[in-house]
Order: sequence, then C-alpha cells, then structure tokens
Amino acid sequence: MWNLTDKTALITGGTKGIGRATVLEFLNLGAKVLFTARNEDDIIEFENELKAQNLNATGLVSDVSIAEDRMHLKDWIEENWNTLDILVNNAGVNIRKKAMDYSEEEVQKVLNINLYAPFQLSRLLQPFLINSKNATVINIGSVAGSQDVGTGTPYAMAKAGLLQQTRSLAVEWAEMGIRVNAVSPWFTKTSLTKGLLGEEERMRPIIERTPLKRVAEAEEMASIISFLAMEKSSYITGQNIIADGGMSINAI
Ligand SMILES: NC(=O)c1ccc[n+]([C@@H]2O[C@H](COP(=O)([O-])OP(=O)(O)OC[C@H]3O[C@@H](n4cnc5c(N)ncnc54)[C@H](OP(=O)(O)O)[C@@H]3O)[C@@H](O)[C@H]2O)c1
Repeated sequence: MWNLTDKTALITGGTKGIGRATVLEFLNLGAKVLFTARNEDDIIEFENELKAQNLNATGLVSDVSIAEDRMHLKDWIEENWNTLDILVNNAGVNIRKKAMDYSEEEVQKVLNINLYAPFQLSRLLQPFLINSKNATVINIGSVAGSQDVGTGTPYAMAKAGLLQQTRSLAVEWAEMGIRVNAVSPWFTKTSLTKGLLGEEERMRPIIERTPLKRVAEAEEMASIISFLAMEKSSYITGQNIIADGGMSINAI
C-alpha cells in the first residue's frame, strides 16, 4: 500500500528541515510519529502546529549524541509501543572548516552526531525493530559521503561511514526482518544551509553544476524517505538513494 497506516516511526531531528517535512509526510500517510530535537520550545511549537492541523505526534527533547537521552527514547518506545516499524536517523550537524582548523572537540562532535549516534540508536532500538517483523531504518547521508563537495572533512568522513554502516547493517539484519537504507541529499532548503543559500556568489557554480538547476525542497527528501519506509520498497535494502538533481552524474 502507498501509505504508512498505523506504522510506528521515530524521526530524529524532527523540528526543522528534512526531519520536519518527514514528520508531516509520515503523519499524512497515517503513521504514528515520535520525533526528537534538543530545543524544547521548537518541539512544543511544532506539536501545537500539528494539533491545529488535526495531526498528532509526540516530541521528546533528546540529544542523539548523549547516551542517557537515547535511553529515554528507548524507554518511551518500550512503554508506549514495544515495537518500532521505522527509524529515521536524520539529526545531523556540520562545522565547515579547513582540516587543520578543527579542534579535537569539534571533530568528535561532528563524528558523534552524524555517525556514532545513528549506530548506537539503531543498536539500542534493534529489539523493537525485530518485534515489528517488517522494519526499516533510513539513514540520512549526504552526497558529501561519496565525493568532496567542500563541506569539511569530518562531516564527509561521518557521512561516508554512515553509508557503510547502512550496507553492513542491511546485510547483518536482513534475517531479522529489518531493511536498512540511506538517502543522500544535495543542497536542500533548510536551516542547516540557510546561510550558504543566501550567498549568491557561492551558490552560482553549485546551481550551474546541478542539471535540474535548483536546490531541493525538504519535502522532496521526505517523499523518498517515505517510499523507503513503506512496504512498497520491500525488496530494497543496503542502498543509498542519491537525491541531487543529477549533480553527481554530471561530469562537465
Ligand atoms: N540541508 C541540506 O542541504 C543537506 C544536504 C545533505 C545532507 N543533509 C542531512 O540531512 C539531515 C537533516 O538536515 P537539515 O538540513 O534538515 O538540518 P536542520 O534544518 O539543521 O535540522 C536539523 C534537525 O536536527 C535537530 N538536531 C540537530 N542536532 C541534534 C542532536 N544532536 N540531537 C537531536 N536532534 C538534533 C535539530 O533540532 P535542535 O537544533 O533543536 O536539536 C533540527 O530539528 C542531516 O543529517 C544533514 O546532514 C542535509
């Protein structure tokens, strides 16, 4: 079916950008949604916005990079659902610098949130994914994980690692009824890229290089994530869907 009726879903980083668009898309497709972020005000505001549209989702304050916070998510899921059909590891951050300019703390922060946290959260929630008997994990990567696009090396390393995490877990967890896939966006209009998107000089070569001649909308990522979450994609696992307007296959 082209819907997510009654599927239980956790989306990390659900208050802004791609995560927020995915919360909305999942709710409209009939899923039960738990989403996270660090900023409580943003969570409350989004929950209220959803209520005004007759949509219901639960938001929890949880920093994916903190073990105790991940444990709260596990406890919530255990108490409320005891199963999890869809996990979207979306929360991500970047610090853009030359390699030599990063402090050790900055490198660890970028690797922790983008690479280590998805691994830990996927492992922590594995028993609930197994309970689903038909679960999917969707990791949000980046084209920066496959080629250099000037994001800074730690982010690129983390996203490259996340793609291999996707492939390795897909193989290991297939027999448990868990599919694992990734979506790799190119420039998408979100708070993460707001600053850059406003810099016309820097954006010109990027748009020039992109055959579709524009950046993406967050909703265009949410629809791919939704497809991978549905049983309609039941024979796809270990894959990375590159959503880049054709940028990476454009050699000239
Ligand atoms: N936008 C793009 O062009 C682009 C391109 C390629 C890949 N991506 C990837 O797509 C994903 C989403 O990016 P986006 O552009 O939508 O970002 P965004 O607009 O900055 O939104 C990020 C969301 O994640 C939350 N978040 C950040 N750190 C968190 C943490 N440690 N724990 C829990 N929540 C956290 C944020 O809320 P709080 O700040 O309140 O925590 C927010 O809800 C990321 O993995 C990013 O790397 C984006």
